[in-house]
Amino acid sequence: MDIAFLLNGETVTLRDVDPTTTALDWLRETRGLTGTKEGCNEGDCGACTVMVTDTHGSRALNACLLFLPQLDGKALTTVEGLAAPDGSLHPVQQAMVEHHGSQCGFCTPGIVVSLAAGQIAGETDHARQLAGNLCRCTGYAPILKAAEIAAPKQVPKWLRDLPTGPDPRGASQAHLPATIDSLAAFLTDHPGARIVAGATDVALWVNKQFRDLGEVVFVSQIEEMVRIETAPYMIRIGAAASIEALRLAMADHHPHFADMLARFSSAQVRSAATVGGNIANGSPIGDAPPPLIALGATLILRRGEATREIALEDFFIDYGKQDIAPGEFVEAVTVPRTPGEASRLRVYKLSKRFDQDISAVLGAFNIIVEGGKVQSARIAFGGMAGTPKRARAVEAALTGQPWTKASVEAAMAAMAQDFTPLSDMRASKDYRLAAAANMLMRCWLEDHGAPVNLAEVQA
Ligand SMILES: Cc1cc2nc3c(=O)[nH]c(=O)nc-3n(C[C@H](O)[C@H](O)[C@H](O)COP(=O)(O)OP(=O)(O)OC[C@H]3O[C@@H](n4cnc5c(N)ncnc54)[C@H](O)[C@@H]3O)c2cc1C
Ligand code: FES
Ligand code: FES
Repeated sequence: MDIAFLLNGETVTLRDVDPTTTALDWLRETRGLTGTKEGCNEGDCGACTVMVTDTHGSRALNACLLFLPQLDGKALTTVEGLAAPDGSLHPVQQAMVEHHGSQCGFCTPGIVVSLAAGQIAGETDHARQLAGNLCRCTGYAPILKAAEIAAPKQVPKWLRDLPTGPDPRGASQAHLPATIDSLAAFLTDHPGARIVAGATDVALWVNKQFRDLGEVVFVSQIEEMVRIETAPYMIRIGAAASIEALRLAMADHHPHFADMLARFSSAQVRSAATVGGNIANGSPIGDAPPPLIALGATLILRRGEATREIALEDFFIDYGKQDIAPGEFVEAVTVPRTPGEASRLRVYKLSKRFDQDISAVLGAFNIIVEGGKVQSARIAFGGMAGTPKRARAVEAALTGQPWTKASVEAAMAAMAQDFTPLSDMRASKDYRLAAAANMLMRCWLEDHGAPVNLAEVQA
């Protein structure tokens, strides 16, 4: 596979790249750019953070989860490229020095790249920007101080004027298709090929399990698959849209969904991970499927010229088993929309850590109340079964009932008819069942003005 990208402002052209070489390994081993550190090699620590710029803007990504072909036609900036050509420090670097934001320094390159990307994107929530950057020895107070000082400073000219990248080389190559049609044609001929979207799952198979992915085809460069479009009665989310793009889009339509997505891993993982990957991987603990199911989402699947639409919940047949044929792929997901109507969706993510953690239980509630009665209820959970799943007995127990505490308590008891969850390292089955039922009560309490959000509750 041939690719071209900018590395700290210089064009790099690579021929016959191994498609599953990570940017981290290449930077350190081939280019000697060792400022980008390897910590966990699985997306958790942020020591490998680099900045990637394209026509959609600049974002921080974990180089350990980034395969080289994903850089085709883009600009890659490493910590070595942050300072000015004359060596003067980037405002974030300067502030880190002045406010003692670094001790051992191992995490520091990733932190400054993350903050520099956040500054370009206008991120003002520095804790959110840094959730994916672990620092074990300095402590976050001086780092956050440095971030606050640097944020209002002007983005340095050398990064502001950064070109978005050379012409992609891959456009003419089968493994880096530029259109959905060419992806569909490729997969018809190569039904065994592995789709790589954000690579936040599949890069771990390579880094941690040393698996050979075989033939791969990349999709994140397919612009029509990356788009999120809002029509009067529907929102269409391309399968290759990132979780971060979904978060930003949902802020206007379903703010609770957007708030939960701010806790989906870290800024780096959200900017890489895609909506299609979060669905197609079939995980019972993916964060996007339950709220999408509660919203009544439809999945659009494509194979060759043919497309079909199914209710999202029907895609998940059993643990590890989805309704998808060889050569078929997820093209998009659509969510119905009623213009002018306030969102009723409530989403609660329960995990051991607030940030950067996989859900133990995630509940999504779309309960429509009219004249004091529950007119309809769509409720879906992650972490309660082998798949993301609707709570149909709970829905039935609520529908038509008055929206009162007593009805909610009665419906909570129905949770055990819907689910027999597993015990694992995240939670026991009894805890899961109790937590899921309590989430329904939380939804009712929230609807009645109680402060139930972790960030709102004061000690
Ligand atoms: C550090 C870390 C933290 C994480 N935290 C969370 C979290 O908080 N919540 C959460 O839900 N997940 C989390 N994940 C899991 C992962 O990020 C998500 O599931 C992500 O959405 C996967 O999308 P991707 O684009 O990266 O998928 P990829 O890794 O590219 O692909 C995953 C699978 O889906 C298939 N696939 C991808 N796109 C398509 C398509 N369009 N059609 C058909 N098949 C397709 C691939 O072939 C592969 O089998 C985390 C992962 C890491 C590494
Ligand atoms: S090395 Fe830890 S996130 Fe990449
Ligand atoms: S400075 Fe040592 S881990 Fe952050």
